[in-house]
Amino acid sequence: MVPSSHFAAYDLLATGVLLVNAESRIDYLNSSAESLIGISGALLVGQAFETVFENSPEFRSAFTTALKSRETVTEYDIAIQVNGHPPVRVSCTVNVHDDPGETVIELRTADQRLRIARQENIRAQQEASRELLRNLAHEIKNPLGGIRGAAQLLERELPRESLREYTQVIIKEADRLQSLMERLLTPHRLPTLSRVNIHEVLERVRSLLLAETPRGIRIVRDYDVSLPELKADSEQLIQAVLNIARNAVQAMKGEGELIFRTRVARQVTLGNKRHRLALRLDIVDNGPGIPESLKDHVFFPLVSGREGGSGLGLPLAQTLVAQNHGVIEFDSVPGYTNFSIYFPV
Ligand SMILES: Nc1ncnc2c1ncn2[C@@H]1O[C@H](COP(=O)(O)OP(=O)(O)OP(=O)(O)O)[C@@H](O)[C@H]1O
Ligand SMILES: [Mg+2]
Repeated sequence: MVPSSHFAAYDLLATGVLLVNAESRIDYLNSSAESLIGISGALLVGQAFETVFENSPEFRSAFTTALKSRETVTEYDIAIQVNGHPPVRVSCTVNVHDDPGETVIELRTADQRLRIARQENIRAQQEASRELLRNLAHEIKNPLGGIRGAAQLLERELPRESLREYTQVIIKEADRLQSLMERLLTPHRLPTLSRVNIHEVLERVRSLLLAETPRGIRIVRDYDVSLPELKADSEQLIQAVLNIARNAVQAMKGEGELIFRTRVARQVTLGNKRHRLALRLDIVDNGPGIPESLKDHVFFPLVSGREGGSGLGLPLAQTLVAQNHGVIEFDSVPGYTNFSIYFPV
């Protein structure tokens, strides 16, 4: 092993640097790499690369491809996860040095522009599908009223009481569809902006949740109380956060921990605008995670992985957050799901 003092200059770099020796063991991490991955180098040095990153298939494959091909490999926006730690999204460049057989890996936070571009793209798609559904809901609502009314008239004319069973089915099902259509059509009122303390929003959500939540669920508050106030519609924020947190509680099935964390975020791009300062709210749960098959679609209306779910919670949360100039992102693996909401301040 090479003494880490040897590499002291690497600690001055903003880019994360990870050195792997010819035996594929980790020799060194600079401090940027430590803070990117969120783990102290002392815990990793000397360990086999493959073992440390066993849950990061894209990262491992970049490493092996570079070793085999002896060429520089760059991957954008991949997930890295060290056991027991939250995954992070990074871009990496892997370089193999022939001489000492050492591999140099550079790590940067995933290219913000790339992520945002993707987000914009998804948001446009979601807007289109929401519009389509609203139109459809509108078309369904009117004839539904007719069907229900006719069933009621028919019921009065029935020769036998026992036949009412059938008209009642028609009426009940029409009512059920009607209420679904109503929810699809929820008028989107414009936000009324005022100064909002995000922690007051969270406290409201917390008390609402506690009232409807089984005792096995714990809600941990990790607030940065020095955060500035937002200009937003507090009722809309409460609704958005509640929808996200309620999903977490439902996913945990009565047993688990929910974390509300607030932090300052610097230099973030929201929508198409770069903000020097923003606020980040994390809603973290340790439930089973979002099924892989749903991950690309959870913000689309009517997408649900839950028995009895109508799939309207997240699309509404996203609309509300967007109306308040914020952005929602999530990361989810079994045992760790984090919905982050960013707001400009
Ligand atoms: N924290 C989470 N953990 C696991 N799965 C989640 C989580 N949050 C959302 N999901 C998945 O995303 C799906 C969509 O969520 P959404 O809130 O839009 O709809 P829903 O909860 O099914 O129905 P509704 O909110 O309208 O009652 C959920 O059904 C669930 O499968
Ligand atoms: Mg929901």
